Amino acid sequence: MPFDLRDIPLDQKAEAALAARGLEYRVLDPADRSALEAWVDADRRGFHEGRAHAPELARELSVIADRRVVGVYDPTLDAPDVPVATAACWPSGLSVPGGRSVDAWAVASVTVAPTHRRRGIARAMMEAELRSAQAAGAALAMLTASEATLYGRYGYAPAARIATVEVDRRRVEWTAPAEPGRVQFVSPQVMRPAAAAIARRAVARTPGEIDRWPGLLDRMLGTHDPDSERSRAIRVARYDDRHDQPQGFVVFRLRPEPGTHEMALEFDFLAAATDEAERALWRFLIEHDLVAKIRGRLRSIEEPLPWLVADRRAIGIGEVSDHLWLRILDPVAALEARRYSGSGSLVLDIDDPQGYAAGRFAIEFSAKGHAEVRRAEPGGTDASARAARRSRPSQGLGLRLGVAELGAIYLGDVTPSLLARAGRIVETTPGSLALADRLFASPRTPHLSIWF
Ligand SMILES: CC(C)(COP(=O)(O)OP(=O)(O)OC[C@H]1O[C@@H](n2cnc3c(N)ncnc32)[C@H](O)[C@@H]1OP(=O)(O)O)[C@@H](O)C(=O)NCCC(=O)NCCS
Repeated sequence: MPFDLRDIPLDQKAEAALAARGLEYRVLDPADRSALEAWVDADRRGFHEGRAHAPELARELSVIADRRVVGVYDPTLDAPDVPVATAACWPSGLSVPGGRSVDAWAVASVTVAPTHRRRGIARAMMEAELRSAQAAGAALAMLTASEATLYGRYGYAPAARIATVEVDRRRVEWTAPAEPGRVQFVSPQVMRPAAAAIARRAVARTPGEIDRWPGLLDRMLGTHDPDSERSRAIRVARYDDRHDQPQGFVVFRLRPEPGTHEMALEFDFLAAATDEAERALWRFLIEHDLVAKIRGRLRSIEEPLPWLVADRRAIGIGEVSDHLWLRILDPVAALEARRYSGSGSLVLDIDDPQGYAAGRFAIEFSAKGHAEVRRAEPGGTDASARAARRSRPSQGLGLRLGVAELGAIYLGDVTPSLLARAGRIVETTPGSLALADRLFASPRTPHLSIWF
């Protein structure tokens, strides 16, 4: 999306809705350091974090320098310069099936102060973000959600899940062949320059992953604040292939396992640009001595690990949760961005109470898995427009679904037929669900391995 984030004007509807409550809605000036510092503090307070110390504050300011940062202010407070609500957004690629990426609009830092909750502030900001995303030309908006009940009302749907993988080290035995490269410890500082390129390749091959930003890698590796307790606990191991090319790395720490005298090895960042690197790093992790448990968070719900060891019951995959939420805004751009597992024709009749994605869309899927999408009938969000569309049956195979259901099947996380079993998708002609299941299936399970 080639545009300057700062050119997007303040959303007037949200500004008016908030002004009616005596509140001011502002886009922050990237040069106004004290306003940005107050915003960072409000954002941290919203997520129940303490105040940032200097290196962390510097990192957070560098991250939001590349974002469009909005705040809501209450001029009647004793501290009117501290926002009572925050949000930030930025354009980002989202990896989709087929090794490509779609133009997406990331929304983060959505907080409302407990003193101002349940007055419609979050709703005003979330609706404004959708309008801004559409104005910027994004095919969809995306976020990670602290609670599963917050964002469905705006048309978002869970589109990629995460799990915690827990390995019983004493019981596990690696049985797969050794990889040809080698794993070695490196310092976070040595890892940092190569980390971005490996992360980029890992992101590109996994639907559901989003573009990484420098401040995220600094935080993962602790390089912005090397002397903090957290950073000093970090260990980094890198896998180099047989040609000594770095292909993956893992950032982990060891800590006492609560209630035992043993240690647990924990990680939430393993980036592998190849399957070989992923296998080698897993082996390195699970073959640690003096460790009872290996715990990987933010992992995919589908790991190769059980197929690499003698006793698959040594591996628990739990805490499965929705993680990435998508809100389709432009069905033509979104559907044409990904690749499909087969060919055929399908008509999607999409309901969207907020209008963005409403309409009937005819899709031709080529033998190579490309989609050509044509808007067959205009949108229209009111009941009569929907009824009129439905009174004209589409030709051929087709589905009737809401925009949230489209978001849920978009990356292949759930099949259309499962949503039909839940009564949330209807096939207009027998056979449509079977075709849609086949087309939308993703060869690689969608997965997002970070919070944003
Ligand atoms: C979640 C949060 C942003 C909501 O802000 P808010 O200004 O109180 O929300 P609003 O008054 O605009 O409510 C909007 C809608 O969400 C609903 N809602 C708000 N908080 C909710 C919650 N915790 N659970 C379920 N629904 C909630 C409201 O009932 C309302 O529904 P409706 O408009 O469909 O009737 C705010 O409570 C907060 O900052 N929480 C802590 C940080 C956080 O979790 N942020 C989300 C990051 S992903």
